[in-house]
Amino acid sequence: MAPVSLVVIGAGQRGTGYARWARRHPDRASVLAVAEPHELRRTRFAAEHGIPAQYAAAGWRELAGRGRLADAVLICTQDRMHAEPAEAFAALGYHVLLEKPMAPDEAACRRIVTAIEQAGVMLAVGHVMRYTPYTRAVTEIVASGQLGDIMSVQHLEPVGFWHQAHSYVRGHWRRSDLATSMLMAKSCHDLDWLQHVLGRPPLRVSSFGSLTHFTAANRPAGAADRCVDCPVEASCPYSAPRLYRGLLEAGEHRWPLSVVVDDYTSAALDEALRRGPYGRCVYACDNDAVDHQVVALEFPGGATATFTMTAFSQAGHRRTRLFGTRGELTGDGETIRVYDFLTRAERLITPAPAGGMDAAGGHGGGDAGLMDAFTAAVATGNRDLIMSGPGESLASHLAVFAAERARLNGTVETVPPYLPSRHTPART
Ligand SMILES: NC(=O)c1ccc[n+]([C@@H]2O[C@H](COP(=O)([O-])OP(=O)(O)OC[C@H]3O[C@@H](n4cnc5c(N)ncnc54)[C@H](O)[C@@H]3O)[C@@H](O)[C@H]2O)c1
Repeated sequence: MAPVSLVVIGAGQRGTGYARWARRHPDRASVLAVAEPHELRRTRFAAEHGIPAQYAAAGWRELAGRGRLADAVLICTQDRMHAEPAEAFAALGYHVLLEKPMAPDEAACRRIVTAIEQAGVMLAVGHVMRYTPYTRAVTEIVASGQLGDIMSVQHLEPVGFWHQAHSYVRGHWRRSDLATSMLMAKSCHDLDWLQHVLGRPPLRVSSFGSLTHFTAANRPAGAADRCVDCPVEASCPYSAPRLYRGLLEAGEHRWPLSVVVDDYTSAALDEALRRGPYGRCVYACDNDAVDHQVVALEFPGGATATFTMTAFSQAGHRRTRLFGTRGELTGDGETIRVYDFLTRAERLITPAPAGGMDAAGGHGGGDAGLMDAFTAAVATGNRDLIMSGPGESLASHLAVFAAERARLNGTVETVPPYLPSRHTPART
């Protein structure tokens, strides 16, 4: 396989991570150009990948204006800046790796799929959970039939108290008008994963959930607007200094600290805690993201699933139980336990560990798995290597939109069908 050439749009957390995969696998991919308005990030990224100044642009439109420079583009901008570059780069003939969510509304998601199909290029959406060794093992067990027909599913996403505070109270995804709903921002992975494991999208969904805790009403007496000024900071589990200074002092120069500072120094962190969004009291932010939500799903054939997302947990792996007519599977993100009803025997499967399930851990090997699959698909022209292509990704996004409508309106929603992709030959 010849190495695939890449253009990276957005040299933030995700763009940097994917590009580093390319650096570690020069036989598979190389980054030729980058678009990033933040000057320090752009120059650091260009230096790391040996990109000449004329290929380090301040915005994606500038790179798109130069025609097709590379085989593929990695679109790693924030949620509301996905659709436009995806459509533009597809039209130029680039294969597209697009971060999830595809877009914060249904019409834009459908436009992206249309643009991809019209251009005859490949699309891989950043549903990295599909690509972990753990998920591969679960889907193989389900496909083997040893559980029989799966009738019920319980799936838990323990977001974690500090992760909620970081991303969904203080951070980028705190408000649906700035980003997207919590369900789309965080749990689109989970609804997509359930669809992937069960092999079909859900038919109907209902949902409940709200922002209950991270509000002004729960602000402790005497609390200040910023943790660094707060007399009750020491007794608050959501203290920003405790989280970020702890990482800095431990020399852990990685996510989530990497979102807060560009330089890993005490002075930079003190300044960020004093003036930036990540130093704010969690009870004095401008957030509306829900802190707990449940979704009930009904699948074709009558199988049902319940999904719980909660901030109020120790951050950790998702946990799942699949209840089949011949056996039960219990998975904690690392170990899979299969109990067989006929033999009453239990089997333990431990797929190769591949890092923690958060961004710092590469999502349990999912980030690397996605890059591996995407670059192989582009190099060989075999789009079947991509597990999160336009059809399945659109279907799971439609389920998320329907579930969020159900939560907001108190309804049971039918998930609209998506039209299967017309088969278009891959452009290589
Ligand atoms: N797949 C996953 O598991 C996963 C995990 C986290 C985030 N995400 C998604 O990935 C996307 C990026 O998240 P992130 O945490 O890397 O965000 P980020 O804010 O760290 O990075 C986005 C970058 O885009 C840059 N940018 C802004 N305007 C631009 C333009 N016109 N042209 C080029 N670049 C521009 C920003 O300056 C920033 O550096 C988001 O949509 C997010 O929801 C996916």
